[in-house]
Amino acid sequence: MKHVRKAVIPAAGLGTRFLPATKTVPKEMLPIVDRPTLLYIVEEAARAGVEDIILVAGRNKTAIEDFFDCSYELQDKLAKDGKTEWVEMLLGIQNMANVISIRQKQALGLGHAVHCARPIAGDEPFAVLLGDEIMISAPGRRTVTEQLSGVYAATGLSTVAIMEVPEKDVSKYGIVGGAMREDGVIKIETVVEKPSPPQAPSRFALPGRYVFTSAIFQYLEKTKPGKNGEIQLTDAMVELAKNHGLLGAPFEARRYDAGDKFGYLQANIEMGLEHPDVAPRLREYLKSLAQRI
Ligand code: UTP
Repeated sequence: MKHVRKAVIPAAGLGTRFLPATKTVPKEMLPIVDRPTLLYIVEEAARAGVEDIILVAGRNKTAIEDFFDCSYELQDKLAKDGKTEWVEMLLGIQNMANVISIRQKQALGLGHAVHCARPIAGDEPFAVLLGDEIMISAPGRRTVTEQLSGVYAATGLSTVAIMEVPEKDVSKYGIVGGAMREDGVIKIETVVEKPSPPQAPSRFALPGRYVFTSAIFQYLEKTKPGKNGEIQLTDAMVELAKNHGLLGAPFEARRYDAGDKFGYLQANIEMGLEHPDVAPRLREYLKSLAQRI
């Protein structure tokens, strides 16, 4: 069984829910306190042993590429000012993984974005981490990508993260259907993109973490535009499940949908409460605010 060495991070969506900010700044670069969303995601992949990050970026890709590149002037100035901790922090980001960027010329859908990574992913298994979904594991616990890679290593089957959502929310996600094993893992038989509640095969949603074998590419190649006129990853997953097998695994982590205004604010508040520079003041402020509203 091949180790998961590569990860694809699609970050080329139009981010319309975040306009006007996303007119010039990709939503994946919006900060959660002082770190761009994307950094949390690259870190998760690196902690899972991923060596090559394949970033699928769109028209604003230079901001993303520059972030993982060396910033010589800045590092030199910080070093001269004796700010060695900051220099080390920047070097740590730069050396976290090999970041390879590829362009999705048109935002034709998540399935199309993942297919753009095919020339670099090759025939190896690879992880996919959505660029706007932050997953935070408890200290000392495995990241979600590590948890999925573990199931893949044990079974050899493509494995995706699943989470239970309330019935009213099924229409926001890809929803899987299939038989649940005793350990909570589902042998996926079907996947429906953003179904209405009566059409949902279950309440188990896809929150944006996947490990695929390269077999997914042959189905992505043939996938026609589906829901909302986009080339959907979920449509290719249905074929993968049918012909090769696909597992849905529950996971342990806090999740924030940072591509959504409310999720983004939640992430900023909760990460702020853990950030040593602002936590005490933020806690006091939130307490006083709660009395006023
Ligand atoms: P979303 O559907 O959340 O992104 O895709 P979006 O289309 O940018 O969002 P809204 O609804 O317009 O606000 C999930 C992830 O897939 C990427 C996005 O960048 C995001 O990280 N994506 C989506 C692509 O890379 N390419 C696409 O064509 C679509």
